[in-house]
Amino acid sequence: SKTKITVIGSNMMDLITNINRMPRLGETIEAPDFDLGFGGKGANQAVAAAKIGSEVVMLSKVGDGLFGREVIKNFKSFGIDTEYVEVVKNTTSGVAPIFVDKDGNNRILIVKGANAHLKPADIDRAKDKILGSDFILLQLEIPLETVYHAIDFGVENEIPVILNPAPAAELDFKYVKKASIFIPNETELETITKMPVDSLENIKKAAESLLTQELEKIIVTMGEKGSLLVSKDITELVPAYQIEPRDTTGAGDAFIGSFANFYAETKDILKAMEMANKYAALSTLNTGTQKSFYSREDFEKYFE
Ligand code: RIB
Ligand code: NA
Repeated sequence: SKTKITVIGSNMMDLITNINRMPRLGETIEAPDFDLGFGGKGANQAVAAAKIGSEVVMLSKVGDGLFGREVIKNFKSFGIDTEYVEVVKNTTSGVAPIFVDKDGNNRILIVKGANAHLKPADIDRAKDKILGSDFILLQLEIPLETVYHAIDFGVENEIPVILNPAPAAELDFKYVKKASIFIPNETELETITKMPVDSLENIKKAAESLLTQELEKIIVTMGEKGSLLVSKDITELVPAYQIEPRDTTGAGDAFIGSFANFYAETKDILKAMEMANKYAALSTLNTGTQKSFYSREDFEKYFE
């Protein structure tokens, strides 16, 4: 039977502008290219999980303008359950102006907009819908009180929670320690632990310091270096699938959404990490976030 994932999180319209350089104060300059994309860490992870084969329930808030309607349509096009993707009156949808330079480096601003209105009570109202999920996926583009409530909800209802602390924020480990798996990237790990992450040894040390915060499993996503599992029993590096990347925006989301699906499917965490490494690598072959994610069929074909 299908695996079921609930994402309680954000959606954004990505306003992707390719630039030669940033304008100076008071200056107007021309930029070579623009693209509008569906993004937001929560939505991206939901779409990755759905494309790779999970039944996905999304809890999210959109604005009452043009973007909000399109975001809901987009979720539906992937078969995602949008009963609890709700419109907030007189509010703008979340947007993410993204500036990509000639070397492919990006700078991202996020405006939470309607995402700031996703509240703990919204989770309680959706209880019947969420029950039976294999995992609840969380990120930090919604209010922290909602993230903490979602963790408690998961514990109460015996649904394991995967927490992606992105973008990095000051966290209360009283709640965070109850998450089953904590998945930061290197910079988030650095911000959260205030420890250096300049070598694999130091990344291991920083991740291991989280075990003393009573977290049970940490997976650090490290791009072309792969992903690192740190738990009480084992520390293991799962190498990346080597590929020439074109645009890495959203690769972390591709990893997390597909990982949740693969882990629910196989119950084998290292195997799931290996498959999610591959899924994330393929997403970097194409520009944009969600539109660069592979379907299950194309994913399997690629490795035939
Ligand atoms: O992780 C990538 C995402 O971060 C983008 O889609 C953007 O919306 C920001 O939330
Ligand atoms: Na991509």
